[in-house]
Amino acid sequence: MIYLSKTLDFAAAHRLHNPALSDDENIRLFGKCNNPRGHGHNYVLEVTVCGEPDATTGAVCDVYSLERAIHEHCVDKLDHKFLNEDVPEMEGVISSTENLCDVIWRMLTGHIPAPAKLHRIRLWETERSCFEYSGS
Ligand code: NI
Repeated sequence: MIYLSKTLDFAAAHRLHNPALSDDENIRLFGKCNNPRGHGHNYVLEVTVCGEPDATTGAVCDVYSLERAIHEHCVDKLDHKFLNEDVPEMEGVISSTENLCDVIWRMLTGHIPAPAKLHRIRLWETERSCFEYSGS
């Protein structure tokens, strides 16, 4: 089994806010991340796929097709967006990086070039905070 990772980045803004709670509770829970006008991150996304190398090509999948798929189905939908309002997949979801991992996973599912399979994503919110998700 070979694991292949591609790393891409995107910039996006978000606001941590739970509309079910009062303004005071939101400020207490999320602090400055509850700032009404949001704040931005330069996210770094690593997508890892896995599979057996194809006998004809020697490759797990076409790496350019993989990069195109990540752009088309994920990064292009998130880059320079306000995650709370511009991304339909984030509707009704707290725009935490944990939840963004789940959204990205679902965006990529079914779009990984065969025969590779989606194995794991890692999402850096900052250089010092990385979130990892394998679909469950
Ligand atoms: Ni943030």
